[in-house]
Amino acid sequence: MAERTKLYEGKAKVLFATDDPHVLVQYFKDDATAFNGVKKGSIHDKGVINNKITERLMTILSAVGIPVHFLERISEREQKIRRVEIVPVELVVRNRVAGSMAKRLGREEGEPLSRPVVEFYYKSDPLDDPLITLDHIEVFGWASTAEIAWIQQTALRINDVLLGYFASIGIHLIDYKLEFGRLSQNPATLVLADEISPDTCRLWDMKTGKRLDKDRFRRDLGDVAEAYHEVAFRMGLMNSPGM
Ligand code: TMP
Ligand code: ASP
Repeated sequence: MAERTKLYEGKAKVLFATDDPHVLVQYFKDDATAFNGVKKGSIHDKGVINNKITERLMTILSAVGIPVHFLERISEREQKIRRVEIVPVELVVRNRVAGSMAKRLGREEGEPLSRPVVEFYYKSDPLDDPLITLDHIEVFGWASTAEIAWIQQTALRINDVLLGYFASIGIHLIDYKLEFGRLSQNPATLVLADEISPDTCRLWDMKTGKRLDKDRFRRDLGDVAEAYHEVAFRMGLMNSPGM
C-alpha cells in the first residue's frame, strides 16, 4: 500500500489524504495540550476514546438532520471524513458559566444561564483565538451573513440534542466548542467538522459535579484518562467502568 500523505498535523489530530480528493482520514492522537500549546502531555488511549465518542455524537447529530463531515470510523484511532475548508470561527456554546466566561466576567463556575449563550472566537494560534463579534466575522469576510446565521442556528439545534443526550447518561453538558467547514466538493454546503469529545466539552457528573473532561488535565485534577473512560463507558462504548 502506498505511504499516506499527511496533509496537516494539529495538537490532537492528524489529517491524511485518501484516493478520493474529497475524503480525508482523521487520526486521533493521545497528545494533550492546553493554554494554546503551553502545557503539553499525553492521556492514555485518549485518541481511541475520542475517535469513538466523536463517531457516536456525530452519528446522533446526523440522524436528526445536522450535516456533519464524519463518514465512518475505520480503525481504533481513525475515521473517514469529508474534506472541508474550515470556517476560521470557533463557536463556544455555554449552558452554565465556566472556564473563560467565569474568569472574563467575574462569575462563579456552575452558575446556570437562563438560555444558552453562543460565543465566537477567531481561529488563530498566533493570536490565541480571540473572542470576536458577529460584525468582525462579516467585516473581515470569515463567513457570510447567511453562513453565520445558519451556523448559529445549527449550533443551538446541536445544543438541544447534545444537552438531552448527555442528561440521559447523567452528565451536565456545561459548554463546548464547535467548528464548521465548507465541503470541498460543494463549498455552498456547510457541515459540522472537527471533533466533539471530552477535549472540546465540559462534562460534569450530574450527581457529584465531578469533572469528566479535559479540565482534569488543564487544572492537574488527576484521574484524567479515567474521566475520558467513564464518559465512553456511560455512552456504551466501553465494556467496563474502570480502566
Ligand atoms: P473556555 O471556557 O476556555 O473558553 O472553553 C470553552 C469550551 O471550549 C470548553 O468546553 C473547552 C472548549 N475549548 C476547546 O475545545 N478548545 C480550545 O482551544 C478552548 C480554549 C476551549
Ligand atoms: N486545545 C487548546 C490547546 O492546545 C486549548 C485547550 O483545550 O485548553 O492549547
